[in-house]
Amino acid sequence: MGKGIVLLSKREIEKMRSAGRLAAQLLDYLEPLVKPGVTTLELNDAAEAWTQKHGAKSAPLGYGKSNPFPRSICTSVNEVICHGIPSKKQVLKEGDIINIDVTPILDGYHGDTSRTFFVGTPAPKVKKLVEVTKQCLYIGIEAAQPNGRIGDIGAAIQEYAEAQGYSVVRDFVGHGISNVFHTEPQVPHYGKRGKGTKIRPGMVFTIEPMINEGTYEAEMLSDGWTAVTKDRKLSAQFEHTIAITPEGPEILTRAD
Ligand code: MF3
Ligand code: CO
Ligand code: CO
Repeated sequence: MGKGIVLLSKREIEKMRSAGRLAAQLLDYLEPLVKPGVTTLELNDAAEAWTQKHGAKSAPLGYGKSNPFPRSICTSVNEVICHGIPSKKQVLKEGDIINIDVTPILDGYHGDTSRTFFVGTPAPKVKKLVEVTKQCLYIGIEAAQPNGRIGDIGAAIQEYAEAQGYSVVRDFVGHGISNVFHTEPQVPHYGKRGKGTKIRPGMVFTIEPMINEGTYEAEMLSDGWTAVTKDRKLSAQFEHTIAITPEGPEILTRAD
């Protein structure tokens, strides 16, 4: 097995289930707040208050050593691939897409999940990108089977995304997660079947494909967090935290 990969006990997976459920409920709570005219900071503040009310902490707030993330959630609008920073100056407008990525810590364990929402009514080609991206997540989860390999996940996602005319971001990957936010294994959303670490019961990791309309290449803005597409075309993302059981993948970030 890959170095640094831990297999979680039944008791730890139960804690991951509770944290994951809370994370999904937080996105359910935020969804109706996504409307033209709202700022991404208002979404952040609503998420922070809700998280505290439910006895949890926001993992993103202060995350990272040299340049700590300054807010409680990531809000990635349109050409932003991931790690967008909520801001008072950023007002959502009709036709935008926004990925909201939340990670509450409950009883020491992390629930990491994100969805891309429409602001108002999407144009047909925007709707297609978002639907294909969501499908990529579920195709990836289905490929995460005990005794398979981590590469099976990325291969399945990449095949589908590229067949639909899109590209798969390389610079950001899924990750092991437990009482630690980001750990081994890395889970690329591209790659080759049969390659990489063997998938075993007890492994818990995220799958979080970022799918682009144009080039897969990313660029970092000067804030040191916001990743955008190099061609400034749209990018969408969905994320779940999953546990590998002897029967197959179990989605932990479900609301019920
Ligand atoms: N939730 C993101 C992920 O899926 C990580 C955010 S780190 C932050 O891995 F610092 F930007 F919040
Ligand atoms: Co996340
Ligand atoms: Co993640």
